[in-house]
Amino acid sequence: MSDAGRAKRLFAEAYDASADGFARSADRLVYGYLARPLARALGEAGSPVLDVAAGSGALGRLLPAAVALDLSAAQLRHNPLPARLQGDAERLPFRDGAFAAAGCAFGINHFPDPGAAVAEMARVAPLVGLLTWSRPEAPYRPKQAVMEVVARHAGSDRTAAGILADELGERVGSPAAVRGLLEGAGLRPEVAEVEVDLPWPGAAAFVDYRLATVGVAGLVDDPATVRRQAIAAVAALPPEALPWAPRLVLGVGRRR
Ligand SMILES: C[S@@+](CC[C@H](N)C(=O)[O-])C[C@H]1O[C@@H](n2cnc3c(N)ncnc32)[C@H](O)[C@@H]1O
Repeated sequence: MSDAGRAKRLFAEAYDASADGFARSADRLVYGYLARPLARALGEAGSPVLDVAAGSGALGRLLPAAVALDLSAAQLRHNPLPARLQGDAERLPFRDGAFAAAGCAFGINHFPDPGAAVAEMARVAPLVGLLTWSRPEAPYRPKQAVMEVVARHAGSDRTAAGILADELGERVGSPAAVRGLLEGAGLRPEVAEVEVDLPWPGAAAFVDYRLATVGVAGLVDDPATVRRQAIAAVAALPPEALPWAPRLVLGVGRRR
């Protein structure tokens, strides 16, 4: 199997295994808010919309007529969209121009060949929207506190899927990289950095979110102890350390 094939299998297995926790915590507490600027950009285009790497439906709940595509069958089982399809973003099983718009929230930071995926999105839709984390990441003390507890117990603070997602995320986590992907697919790009304010969910819910991400899920043998210690570490932080407004890169490309 090629490196790209191995990467996709690693992500499919990791997102399958973490699907329940991801849907309950990560989607509800974080990704559902982060998807809003992309949903607004895609909403202008009309329908149908394709949601690529749709996961458990953070973007799809904001665009209820969308079609969801994802590698992970278990993530799709949590996705509320009626039209759901298991598949690879780099080979979309749709005819040219089948959609008014195609969007991808936090998917391009997982694709071994993001250029191929964006070219596929541009083939099936005249408007393409991309959203990813801006890198490098600003230090955020609640995340650091959880990671320190995880590292103490597991000897590492990240899974193999987490390490790979971080590497791939660095490659696409800038306005220049997202602009390059859209231009490479023959689209006229508009790219901006945006910040989204996230409501503080409380120490326990924040820890549950961190432990449900594919970067951490399954890493520790004693999740109840890690959870308890991580909650204590986060609860001990001063209130001014808690607000979180992650920086994202939002790119919209239109057919020339
Ligand atoms: C961080 S989640 C984001 C899910 C959702 N878009 C959201 O914003 O909550 C990343 C998703 O990308 C999916 N994914 C990773 N590689 C993929 C690929 N090659 N094709 C389709 N989906 C992929 C994973 O299965 C996972 O559901």
